[in-house]
Amino acid sequence: MKDTVAQIAEEIKDFAITSEETLEEYRLQFLSKKGKVTSLLSKIGTAPKEERAELGQLINKLKQEAQTRYDEAKQELQKSSTKQFGAKDDITLPGAEPIVGGFHPLTIGMEEIKSVFTRLGFTIADGPELEDDFHNFTALNFPPEHPARDMQDTFFIRKDEKDLDDLVLRTHTSPVQIRLMKDQKPPVRAIMPGRVYRNESVTYKSYFMFHQVEALYVDKNVTFAELKETLIILAKMMFGDDVKYRLRPSYFPFTEPSLEMDIWNDQKDTWMEILGAGMVDPNVLKAVDVDPEIYSGFALGLGVERMTMAKYGLTDIRDMYQNDVRLLSQFNQLI
Ligand code: PHE
Repeated sequence: MKDTVAQIAEEIKDFAITSEETLEEYRLQFLSKKGKVTSLLSKIGTAPKEERAELGQLINKLKQEAQTRYDEAKQELQKSSTKQFGAKDDITLPGAEPIVGGFHPLTIGMEEIKSVFTRLGFTIADGPELEDDFHNFTALNFPPEHPARDMQDTFFIRKDEKDLDDLVLRTHTSPVQIRLMKDQKPPVRAIMPGRVYRNESVTYKSYFMFHQVEALYVDKNVTFAELKETLIILAKMMFGDDVKYRLRPSYFPFTEPSLEMDIWNDQKDTWMEILGAGMVDPNVLKAVDVDPEIYSGFALGLGVERMTMAKYGLTDIRDMYQNDVRLLSQFNQLI
């Protein structure tokens, strides 16, 4: 039996305690009721009488040593798991505030506009930013050489030296109307959000790249009154019921009659144009094989930057593209 005691003493010495789990494992193996040391004690009675006293001492000593090892290991583990505060640490100081990100104002404006139209039953469609002449101009009733093409300040892209058939960076989202109506016969009620490009000088209110949302509604008996009502609902949902707006007659090759909508900009103390609109020109419907004798429709194209600026009191479109966190962080709480 002395040998067994020596062997267990050896095992205790060799047992590596490195974690809470191994500590518990150690306790179960040696110190618990069914552990090896405890069961040695209960076996003393089976040893020859003359040896019992000595064995008892030996086992008790082993038990104490095993317990001491356990206590020390436990203390050691606790020490390493809690940070020790020094005299220099002031635990009453507030913690460092985490930096919270947010949406870009343009994203917020775009989402609000989309939400107005989806609530009115419009679906969302998409088209390419690199367009051909047919979709960007011809099918939209811009005849070749027509001066209205100049209105658009187009960026032309030449595919290669020999090919004179230029592509363009789309100057508006209206070409998506054409793509959509080629794919889908009326009724069509969709918006087409996206980026557009114009070779114009950069000022506080215009940039060479910006975002538009196009809306198109084509069905039997679509009227100008419905267009007007849609515009007013849009303005009120975006800017509140007491928004100051006006509708002005205008000209676009792809709509007849055409109009533009301004809203009053308090910051600049002036009217700001936010969209163009009109009844879809019969020539556009013909270009996509829709019979203008049966169908009519309205279209509008709005400037997302302008609307967002007016809504949130931004005064310079260039601020939208500087990504100055001092400006952007003011929008963190808005969505
Ligand atoms: N595409 C026009 C523009 O960018 C806006 C517009 C769209 C006008 C639809 C009328 C109808 O200038």
